[in-house]
Amino acid sequence: MGGRKNKRKRAERPTIHPNNKYSDNPPDFALLASLYPSFNSFVSYSRDGRPKIDWTNFNATRELTRVLLLHDHGLNWWIPDGQLCPTVPNRSNYIHWIEDLLSSDVILKTNADGDNVKGFDIGTGANCIYPLLGASLLGWSFVGTDATEVALEWAKKNVKNNPQISELIEIREVLTSQDSNSLKESHNGESGSGESQTDLCWTVGKEGEPLPSYPFDLSSSADKSYYGPPVLLGVVKDGEKFDFCMCNPPFFETLEAAGLNPKTSCGGTPDEMVCPGGEKAFITRIIEDSVLLQQSFRWYTSMVGRKSNLKFLISKLRQVGVSIVKTTEFVQGHTCRWGLAWSFVPPARKIISPCVAQRNNLSFILEGIQRQFSAVDVLQSIESFFCSSGASCKLNTSSFTVDVTASVEHCDVILNNEASEASNGEHVLEMSYHSSHSLPALSNSSFRISVYQQIAGTLLVKGSLQHRDSPIAGAFSSVIQQLEEVLKHQFCREKGT
Ligand SMILES: C[S@@+](CC[C@H](N)C(=O)[O-])C[C@H]1O[C@@H](n2cnc3c(N)ncnc32)[C@H](O)[C@@H]1O
Repeated sequence: MGGRKNKRKRAERPTIHPNNKYSDNPPDFALLASLYPSFNSFVSYSRDGRPKIDWTNFNATRELTRVLLLHDHGLNWWIPDGQLCPTVPNRSNYIHWIEDLLSSDVILKTNADGDNVKGFDIGTGANCIYPLLGASLLGWSFVGTDATEVALEWAKKNVKNNPQISELIEIREVLTSQDSNSLKESHNGESGSGESQTDLCWTVGKEGEPLPSYPFDLSSSADKSYYGPPVLLGVVKDGEKFDFCMCNPPFFETLEAAGLNPKTSCGGTPDEMVCPGGEKAFITRIIEDSVLLQQSFRWYTSMVGRKSNLKFLISKLRQVGVSIVKTTEFVQGHTCRWGLAWSFVPPARKIISPCVAQRNNLSFILEGIQRQFSAVDVLQSIESFFCSSGASCKLNTSSFTVDVTASVEHCDVILNNEASEASNGEHVLEMSYHSSHSLPALSNSSFRISVYQQIAGTLLVKGSLQHRDSPIAGAFSSVIQQLEEVLKHQFCREKGT
């Protein structure tokens, strides 16, 4: 297959979430320079009169972050020299993606805490950026954790200097003396259901079930396991419940690998950038902890820096029986980061279960289709959805059907984020059509997607697999569920609007 599937063109690649303050108004350096003399000293003007800063100067990038947080968010903020300096528009995208997850009707709110949203920021850093943004933008409360003295000291200062939101944020020390592996073992001992859950693939956990012990050797195929201070287990207190956790993990395995982007200077100390095993090991630990903490969090999320790690982590999540996995792409200039989210809360809408996994006829209803869209638009979107995975498709506007020929691999592409979501939470439907170029796969299966008009604004979409025992039968329901999500996002009005 080589790089075929990665070489698809993206029709559009939104770089900023539509709710992001900066989506229509990028930072205005000239205005900020005129208002803040301390920032003015870092601003120069190119020949065509455009204001710019020297991105390789840490003092300049830190001052930009400071004035953006002050001017646009009313936040007082500072970090000592060399600490990781966050870019405000990029960090805001992660917050808004979580906002999308929380408002999605797939995983309903379980927290008894009314409308208050409670988040958990793993490794908040000296900059404490996520709690500050989440609290000031959306009124969320947070526990922000860290394991280093300097991070804890400055995160606390940054909270204290913002009395308008300081009540919402608790900075919690992760005790480095604690051995996270022994915590894991003692938790296993306590929960001790002893059940081995070997076939939990994509099954849905039920509320009130005993916490399973680690049924899988998650780290067996990882190059290196995480060792170090606890991450969630041992930090989350008994009985605590959160709507989500988030994490910008130490991405790198070594200082050399962390390097420094010569084009920018955002600081970053070894403690912030590096951990044994890198992000793969760190996020694997979050997954392991989530298996034990289950529904203590509605959503578990993390940033992921490398696509190969994202794929590895998604396959781990499939092993441990989460109820749903969501991904998104954060585009930052020329670099890409991914958001990975999962949950153990049973989905409100039935999406994946072993019994439906084997059904060869599956359907769903699209209600509240916006007026400007016709059934043909929906058909074309269905075609594009499958074509973007490399499957071949034939659209028929007379019978209102799309005939698809796809392999297990194509389904994997769909389910492993190749039809990825943009940072605005909507799936990017890739518009390059591959019908004529798709590589012949050895064991292709055929299925038909039919679209039926019900009443005005409502369509029934039905997927029919030609052979019940075809190789893709196991993935069929997940693929149809993914299709449903994409079409709903694209064509249907939000409930209540
Ligand atoms: C890449 S920095 C992220 C800082 C900040 N959240 C941001 O996005 O700029 C990673 C942070 O994780 C912290 N960290 C490392 N291991 C940790 C652990 N086990 N628990 C909590 N924080 C940890 C580091 O000290 C560092 O501050």
